[in-house]
Amino acid sequence: MSGLVSKQISGLRGTVTAPGDKSISHRSLMFGALATGETVVTGLLEGEDVICTAEALKAMGADIKKDGDIWRIRGGKQLQTPRAPLNLGNSGTSTRLLMGLISGYPITATFTGDASLSRRPMKRVIEPLSQMGAQFEGERLPLRVAGGDLRAITYKLPVASAQIKSAILLAALHAAGTTTVIEPEPTRDHTERMLRLFGAKVTTDGHNILLQGNQKLTAQNITVPSDPSAAAFPIVAALITKDSDITLPGVLINPLRTGLYTTLIEMGANIRFENKREESGDIVADIRVRSSTLTGVRVPPERVPSMIDEFPILAVAAAFAEGETIMTNLGELRVKESDRLTAVADTLKAAGVRAIAGEDDLRVTGASTVRGGCTIATHMDHRIAMSALVMGMASENPISIDSADMIATSFPDFAGLMNGLGAKIS
Ligand code: S3P
Repeated sequence: MSGLVSKQISGLRGTVTAPGDKSISHRSLMFGALATGETVVTGLLEGEDVICTAEALKAMGADIKKDGDIWRIRGGKQLQTPRAPLNLGNSGTSTRLLMGLISGYPITATFTGDASLSRRPMKRVIEPLSQMGAQFEGERLPLRVAGGDLRAITYKLPVASAQIKSAILLAALHAAGTTTVIEPEPTRDHTERMLRLFGAKVTTDGHNILLQGNQKLTAQNITVPSDPSAAAFPIVAALITKDSDITLPGVLINPLRTGLYTTLIEMGANIRFENKREESGDIVADIRVRSSTLTGVRVPPERVPSMIDEFPILAVAAAFAEGETIMTNLGELRVKESDRLTAVADTLKAAGVRAIAGEDDLRVTGASTVRGGCTIATHMDHRIAMSALVMGMASENPISIDSADMIATSFPDFAGLMNGLGAKIS
């Protein structure tokens, strides 16, 4: 286990490229493996989570190769039963989306993962996929899936989750008839966008997403934009440290992913989106951020799905804002890589910040100074680890984390990139 410590800094300056979007990277590999022809991916996130997806697909016979900075996937082959269990490490996205993908093939696979992933609920995906005709043993990892002939379903998601939606849509590609997924609230739409990019017809009407089975997918060239969820860490770091001025080129600004940015701007953040453009069927911009004086806000509950991964780092921004920040509708945070609601509140409290976590809400009372001087338990959660290190950059005393290992799942060069801007992480 390797820990890290982050010390107070005077400011961050410079231009850095945040890593490729995790959600789009997973899907690029999966759709590449399904589509006929060679898919070429530039900017793939080479974090441990995405590598787990690549290795799992390879274990089922997919032809995936790294060629310098690009990834080449020769797709369209029949997937095979893997010889050994598929180890998905810490990655919920790999697990749930692959459960859907495998359901459409006459193969079986066993999924395993680390202690964090083995605690996470899988019934939410097993339920709809079973209705479609797949068979499962186990409700959490390790679990076994047997795919085969699938039928289309109409399924109302019990929670707003892009992973459940995507698992069903991936299975629906091989189901007879038209599958309809009904979302309680819109969630990230990368699967729908990628289906269209690869040539499938997907219809969306209000909260309904309709996909007909057995459509042809054709290989594409994909440029993966920078991940707005990863960019969130240097962005908040620049906001809460003095004399900061940083630019992050080519960040995805899909409106279903940018709830944090909207919230920070409402808090008074100086964030500018420059050079907006379209890339591989999505919207990107260069983001410029300068130190800002922040004020607490109430986050609208309906905004939660568009910033579901960003509450740990928003809570850090809230710790340095004047007044109270109120976050509600956070029940899903309890089943992320850790129980994030408890982990975030504990992190802030350890650093001397007033934070109260309820069953599904969080209230943070900010102050102009944060004491720091603590070691944070990261609970195998990369976003808790990075949030704590960002908090250390503006706290009076250094903040340590018990383990930095999980940061590699989504942001392998986090410390190097932040130190290049002026951070003191060692
Ligand atoms: C993801 C969806 C979200 C998010 C995760 C990535 C995806 O999970 O937290 O990091 O790529 O579809 P849920 O769908 O469980 O909310």
